[in-house]
Amino acid sequence: MTDDLFSLSGRVCMITGASSGLGRRIAICLAEAGAVVVLTGRRQALLKEVEKAIADIGGQAHSYTLDVNNRTAVQQIIDTIEEQVGPIWCLVNNSGVVVMNRPENFSEEQYDDVLDTNLKAPFHLCQVVGRKMIARHDGGRIINMASIGAQTELEGGITYCMSKAALVTMTKCLAVEWARYGIHVNAISPGYIETEMTSQYYGSEQGQKTIAGWPGKRIGKPKDLDGIILLLASSASEFMNGSIVSVDDAQPLGFFGNSRQIS
Ligand SMILES: NC(=O)c1ccc[n+]([C@@H]2O[C@H](COP(=O)([O-])OP(=O)(O)OC[C@H]3O[C@@H](n4cnc5c(N)ncnc54)[C@H](OP(=O)(O)O)[C@@H]3O)[C@@H](O)[C@H]2O)c1
Repeated sequence: MTDDLFSLSGRVCMITGASSGLGRRIAICLAEAGAVVVLTGRRQALLKEVEKAIADIGGQAHSYTLDVNNRTAVQQIIDTIEEQVGPIWCLVNNSGVVVMNRPENFSEEQYDDVLDTNLKAPFHLCQVVGRKMIARHDGGRIINMASIGAQTELEGGITYCMSKAALVTMTKCLAVEWARYGIHVNAISPGYIETEMTSQYYGSEQGQKTIAGWPGKRIGKPKDLDGIILLLASSASEFMNGSIVSVDDAQPLGFFGNSRQIS
């Protein structure tokens, strides 16, 4: 019974930014639950490594090189995935970037990089996948990767916080709009987790001191999101829609370690 509730057997789940960090682990976790996973990202060699890791545990994975900011490519790849792999049941909008700078110093290029990747691209992906889900009348799941930065002001991370706060609002609005089609749109707000995005600071002496000051005295590991991912991707979340779930080990809000690296 419990296994059935969380099973994703045969379900096609597409993950953006599956080449590293959280996306890589999410792909493996979904594959372990029986999903046919579709890995996307720009770094093809890393995607192939994840594909192999999944094949080695007996899972099914397909990888497609995709820059989420290329609107034409997004439409084409999603058409191709549905033709070659099958109807997408779950989209995990995980890809994201952070650029640290003072508000007065942000260039237009930096601003666009963060807002385009973290907000405009996920919206477009929701549109393209959502239209297909609506046409099929079979529901679906969308999981957006927000952040602790959506709820607070992180020094040096103004564009990141803006993008993630808007992603949260987008999640809630889509849930209201698409509940009528059985499409559930939820978001995860992780605390600090050890990935390429955060490892430089948290691997340093100062970073280790910061971690020692947190209530749980530890930084998260990508695996710490397994439970929430399985919940939100599966039938177990049947009555969850528009939820923003924090997974942060009670880490304090309002601090962004990398702020020491900016002038
Ligand atoms: N780690 C944390 O503490 C933390 C906390 C809260 C939220 N998050 C969020 O979690 C998500 C994953 O971050 P992470 O920590 O796993 O960092 P990461 O290892 O740097 O992963 C970021 C991923 O985004 C992909 N990406 C970036 N720009 C892209 C683009 N234009 N097109 C396609 N893919 C793109 C990258 O893939 P390619 O380079 O191969 O394209 C990469 O796989 C992000 O949205 C981040 O904001 C992370």
